[in-house]
Amino acid sequence: MKILAIDTSTDETAAAVTQGIKVLSNIIWSQASLHAKWGGVYPSLAKRVHLERIDWVVSKALSSAKCEADNINAIAVGTGPGLAVAIEVGLAKAKKISLLLNKPFIAINHVEGHLLSVLAKPKTSRQQRPKDIVGFPAIGLVASGGTTQLVLIMRVGTYEILAHTIDDALGEALDKAARMLGLGYPGGPILEIMAKEGDPKTYNLPIPMLGKENRSRFSYSGIKTAMYKLVQNEQPLTKEKIHNLAASFQDKTFQHVERLIRKVLETYKVKEFFLTGGVSANIELRKRIRKICNEREIILSIPYSKKLCTDNAAMIGIAANFKFQRGEIVTSTNLDLVDRVPRARVDKKFPWEK
Ligand code: KG4
Repeated sequence: MKILAIDTSTDETAAAVTQGIKVLSNIIWSQASLHAKWGGVYPSLAKRVHLERIDWVVSKALSSAKCEADNINAIAVGTGPGLAVAIEVGLAKAKKISLLLNKPFIAINHVEGHLLSVLAKPKTSRQQRPKDIVGFPAIGLVASGGTTQLVLIMRVGTYEILAHTIDDALGEALDKAARMLGLGYPGGPILEIMAKEGDPKTYNLPIPMLGKENRSRFSYSGIKTAMYKLVQNEQPLTKEKIHNLAASFQDKTFQHVERLIRKVLETYKVKEFFLTGGVSANIELRKRIRKICNEREIILSIPYSKKLCTDNAAMIGIAANFKFQRGEIVTSTNLDLVDRVPRARVDKKFPWEK
């Protein structure tokens, strides 16, 4: 069962070929450097670059997987959440290929893709089925540039959102802090490098939502404003100040995540924790969450490659494999009903599935 998967949710033009839970190819054309001067994703530019690059990533995904289009069994695409103008490029391409090849079409929630990215295996793996069957219920953290949420995974396909952000996503907050420090975009990885050299205790930034963990909300607007004022006060910035500011900001935003995870784990007794999304590439965050899991004898699962942490299409293929097995495909007669869903929730079906 081979799936050609596409994702154009934000600023990565991505295509992949997966077979069961194995990743045969995972091609990502990152637009990050093009959006750098705006310090975030510029939607119309994202759309234009997706249009320019989509054919290239699809054919590269097929050739890297040594797979002819005819040998594909189904086409999958991320239909939301994400930027509407960006999603529509991948969606249109996936519909076209599905009709042309007369292959089943599978619409995937982008957040579900992130959650299930930990189940992916490299193509050399001998494993045919995920070991996850014993790992449920699990809790997943999706921390990306577009969302931050803690999700209870009862089993593949059944989700409950336990906590979500009321303003910025964690990755977005890290990107904005990096921008304040003049570090470029995307800021998360650069901030991580700077933070390693700094002392997180130098500055007294607030821990977001301190003492309000039972509200189950992430929030980064307060600490962002505090950081902005601090950076103004600390001008001119020296290397040492940048290191310390980066360390302080990363430390406090991560403490917020840790506190919410601890709170949620008091209520939900789970076997496994899935750490996913672009920010899951961060070594310090991994270390902190590993400690929490070790204390509770919970297995920590992280995608096997950093290419599976940030936006990619292989995770869409993995999720589609399970959806295909459940028979949740879109027939060619219903294909017109499928649309982009920029605010799709992982715990809800898409409108055409009801
Ligand atoms: O999953 P993703 O590609 O989501 C969206 O594009 O929405 O994640 C991108 C986010 C960016 O905000 C980026 O700064 C962050 O993930 N990120 C990191 C790291 N690598 C990527 N944040 C912290 N540390 C990293 N190593």
